[in-house]
Amino acid sequence: MDLQLHGKTALVFGGSRGLGRAIAAELVQEGATVVIVARDAARVHKVAAEIGCFGLPGDLSVEGVGTALVKAATDLLGRTPDILVTNTGGPPTGSFSATTSAAWAAGFQGLWMSAVDSIQAVLPGMQANGWGRILAVTSVAAKEPQPGLVISNALRAGILGMLNTLSREVAGQGITVNALLPGYTNTDRMAELGVDNASMGAKIPAGRLGEPAEFAALAAFLASGRASYITGQAIAVDGGFLHSI
Ligand SMILES: NC(=O)c1ccc[n+]([C@@H]2O[C@H](COP(=O)([O-])OP(=O)(O)OC[C@H]3O[C@@H](n4cnc5c(N)ncnc54)[C@H](OP(=O)(O)O)[C@@H]3O)[C@@H](O)[C@H]2O)c1
Repeated sequence: MDLQLHGKTALVFGGSRGLGRAIAAELVQEGATVVIVARDAARVHKVAAEIGCFGLPGDLSVEGVGTALVKAATDLLGRTPDILVTNTGGPPTGSFSATTSAAWAAGFQGLWMSAVDSIQAVLPGMQANGWGRILAVTSVAAKEPQPGLVISNALRAGILGMLNTLSREVAGQGITVNALLPGYTNTDRMAELGVDNASMGAKIPAGRLGEPAEFAALAAFLASGRASYITGQAIAVDGGFLHSI
């Protein structure tokens, strides 16, 4: 299948490791010109050179950075990105009782406002072009709250409502908006959460964690010209982990 990504441009947040890196690599392989973003400047440039794309350092947990990164990427690409992938590291873990107001505010800026700001910045260009793909990396926690992840459980569910609302506003303008829900996937985030891959794998119907490339395959398809009639969806790549239908 030709994904019709040759000549398209993409901005991929959190693109130096894990799921974002896999998405960026897949889009490059399909012929897109890609900019990746992450905080660690040395690593973002190193990974960009390895993948064959542009690297932009930036911290999406800082107010205003989402907007500034869209402008910087537009300057690098010479046009508005056709594809925007919102994605950052996971928010701090913890129970409701142990989570401070400061942690909630930081989680809101990093997970939620960085997505809102960057989408608002990219939309006028996509509307002028009559073509756009907005993909948000969220989590299975958006549909089934996970233990000890109160910020993620709360905010990611709300983000699905925000994205679905937006998808209807722009559906007639050639722009699709979809959420991708990773299940437990083999990245640095698993070590950060202290997940034991073997025992977690036993709880997943597929019998193992997912690989970033398996997740990236869905992202590339949803970013493509072939996915033009799929919008407002929240699609899990989870080896059968979610029970909900
Ligand atoms: N892996 C899973 O199983 C899984 C499951 C469900 C949900 N998720 C969610 O999916 C997202 C991606 O997960 P992952 O496993 O790919 O994580 P990861 O391996 O930790 O990679 C995170 C990427 O985002 C960048 N990043 C982190 N914070 C950032 C910030 N404030 N500004 C800009 N870039 C930032 C990191 O680079 P720098 O550190 O250099 O900034 C890195 O490139 C996370 O929100 C995670 O919670 C993952």
